[in-house]
Amino acid sequence: MKPQLNVSADDRELNKQLCTYIHEKLTYLLEQSGIISIGVSGGSMPKVFSKAFLHVTSEIRNLNWKRIRIFMVDERNVEIEDEDSNLGAYLKLFPEELHEIFVPFPYHKDVRHSAREYELNLRKYLLPEQLNNIARFDMLFLGVGPDGHTASIFPGRERLEKVNELNWVGAVSESPKPPPSRVTLTLQCIQHAKNTAFIISGRQKAEIVRGIWHRDFKYPAAQARPYNGKLTLFVDEDAAVGIPNP
Ligand code: 6PG
Repeated sequence: MKPQLNVSADDRELNKQLCTYIHEKLTYLLEQSGIISIGVSGGSMPKVFSKAFLHVTSEIRNLNWKRIRIFMVDERNVEIEDEDSNLGAYLKLFPEELHEIFVPFPYHKDVRHSAREYELNLRKYLLPEQLNNIARFDMLFLGVGPDGHTASIFPGRERLEKVNELNWVGAVSESPKPPPSRVTLTLQCIQHAKNTAFIISGRQKAEIVRGIWHRDFKYPAAQARPYNGKLTLFVDEDAAVGIPNP
């Protein structure tokens, strides 16, 4: 299935498009399922996502955000108070009454221990029908690095340190992007999402956008395409230069 492409001229337009997308998807998914699961990346994503999502929740407050669970697609292995914490960044931006929709990240000094417990959390917070052999997220919001990484899956390092016999979550101990120690969903898990949206801006990411569009699987971000779900790209005009003939 061809990805859906949304090109925006500026941040305002991107936010508007993202709000519409989140609103439509949430409305539909909340009709289909008792609990919906959303995975979000770190980096610049907390700012972009929270702006769009908070606008949407005010419109759909009656629709019940208590049935929404937000997971970190990847997390830096640090305490939540640390300025590198992705979850910490989200919590700073979201009002306290909404903090309960975020699934906790279990920090331990040993990253393998954090990853193992995080995987247990997936099993605890997802519904049985979302756990058919592998965790199937309803929606993922992914960012991309200029080297083509997504979540904490870096080029040439797609095979993660396994933390148990399942292959949903992996531990990373030498991430090229600091901080070095991270927990991430595996590519396999990401590929099973029902809806995946990339949010990408800037000329330095245009080549990666082209890679995702043309299925150039040398980039982890391009491998993150859902097998059986919908892929949507939100890009600004600079990043869209990477798609010569959409
Ligand atoms: C992280 C991320 C990472 C991020 C990309 C893009 O914790 O570092 O989850 O995968 O999404 O590196 O980051 P920017 O949006 O900041 O460029």
